[in-house]
Amino acid sequence: MKEQLEQLLAEAIGQLKAQGKIPADHSVNIQLDRPRDKSHGDFATNLALMLAKPAKSNPRQLAEAIVEAVPENTLLAKMDIAGPGFINFTISQDQLKDQLTAMLNSDRLNVDKADQSKTIVIDYSSPNLAKEMHVGHLRSAIIGDAVSRVCEFLGHKVVRQNHVGDWGTQFGMLLAYMEALDNQSAEYELSNLETFYKAAKQRFDESEEFADRARQLVVKLQSGDAYCLKLWNQFIDVSLSHCQDVYDRLGVKLTRQDVMAESAYNNKLPGVIEHLREKGLLTEDQGAQCVFLEEYKGKEGEPLPIIVQKKGGGYLYATTDLAAIEYRQKELGGDHLMYFVDARQALHFDQIFTLARKAGFVEGDIQLNHYGFGTVMGKDGKPYKSRDGGVTKLADLLDEAERRALELLQQKTTDLTDEQQKHVAEVIGISSVKYADLSKNRTSDYIFDWNHMLTFEGNTAPYLLYAFTRVNSIFDRLGNTAFDRNADIILSDERELALANQLVRFNEVLHQVQDKAMPHFLCGFVFDLAGRFSSFYEACPILNQEDEALRNSRLKLSMLTANVLKQGLELLGIPTLEKM
Ligand code: ARG
Repeated sequence: MKEQLEQLLAEAIGQLKAQGKIPADHSVNIQLDRPRDKSHGDFATNLALMLAKPAKSNPRQLAEAIVEAVPENTLLAKMDIAGPGFINFTISQDQLKDQLTAMLNSDRLNVDKADQSKTIVIDYSSPNLAKEMHVGHLRSAIIGDAVSRVCEFLGHKVVRQNHVGDWGTQFGMLLAYMEALDNQSAEYELSNLETFYKAAKQRFDESEEFADRARQLVVKLQSGDAYCLKLWNQFIDVSLSHCQDVYDRLGVKLTRQDVMAESAYNNKLPGVIEHLREKGLLTEDQGAQCVFLEEYKGKEGEPLPIIVQKKGGGYLYATTDLAAIEYRQKELGGDHLMYFVDARQALHFDQIFTLARKAGFVEGDIQLNHYGFGTVMGKDGKPYKSRDGGVTKLADLLDEAERRALELLQQKTTDLTDEQQKHVAEVIGISSVKYADLSKNRTSDYIFDWNHMLTFEGNTAPYLLYAFTRVNSIFDRLGNTAFDRNADIILSDERELALANQLVRFNEVLHQVQDKAMPHFLCGFVFDLAGRFSSFYEACPILNQEDEALRNSRLKLSMLTANVLKQGLELLGIPTLEKM
């Protein structure tokens, strides 16, 4: 609907340009808003206010001219000019009903596929493998996964890339520790990567001999020594399967196939340096190879280097990212590269993107975006820590989520068996953690608070999952009783209309989620939908409605609500429950 209206307005502007009322060469950006206040219609625009100056006209007059120039159509019931020159549009009820019907008859809820299907390469999760996944790894995995799902749903080819950190000096320490253990205890100790890492670190700090061996092993590893590679492979394998367990529990779609580790780029790195040298971009600074870009200066205006090779010859994080960016465009065919990485790496990506374009690692009109996110905070306003003050392992956090969800459920009376209750608690627990993250604006920090996420009140997973079961229960009670799915939709009650108006926004919201890589738009949408359904459900009898036509219409609205809620939640990576 939004697109249709934009189209109508574009035609109107075209006509006014042809008439000389707006300068023909003026590029016009049509902005449509969804007014909060119903009396302002379904859409509003400040187009006339924006164009008054170039058109040398007064805004109200121009608004009238625009309204006049909108071609005849069946989309709009009316257009009003308000205030200094806003135009408010009201969608016709027939259009609304047609759109609802089209959604009901479509297996993709009549969501438009993108005009152009692109290959979108999405870098997310990407933990360092030396340690166990912890709370700091939550956001990239959850947000990246939701955006991937939405992009796929909109018809793009999505290539997931898990750029895990599996290379670097820390691995020397880990290998030395592995070497010092006999096979059996190595296996045992590797089952808890966190303690393994700590123990290795302790030895490294305490024993000079051990530290020397660790340094020796890194050098050997990097030169491709078979024995070191064997130890290293063993470690990486354990670490990756641990990540996979976490993804599976979280319902994150990443698999082993999506792993494209830092080490996979090793043999490309000398070429990256050579290429930069050929382009004349390389400067030696205190023995290190650096690139200085004019765009990036330090606080005092001093040049800021991107270091691509250390004094001893070692390569860096930036070097690997340059190789990866090239691979993603040239080998994977990426048109748009998305990176879901902590906001603190903003400068790194900014520099890499600029350099990659300048040096020709990527070409043409490829789109490059780093989508940063804020930190998960504890209630004390500091980065979230476990009770003993250490980092919280993700696996433990998820266990706690499930345990707390079970407690929450046990406060309710249900007719679920113990087995079912356990399953429901798992879904609620994990979903609560995910939803709490997704529903916040990606760019801000947020406070991790069990009491806020595990409650049936407010914009939470339990509330939405429960709302879904409520809609679902209508059809449970209906059982096999047939209802006429071809019946007309009737929007006579204001709550029916409010629900209908929200349902048809689904398409628009999904496109917004993709454009801005902001899943919280979709959370806001499903929350609002659930609220409107609840008002409708309380005010408008459905199953015991005597008027057959009204009953059919309300069943259809309920069915569409169930479908949209289910699809919306699924795109957020949250499975729905039939009962709870
Ligand atoms: N492993 C890195 C970290 O934990 C994140 C990698 C993000 N992706 C990338 N292409 N740099 O900080």
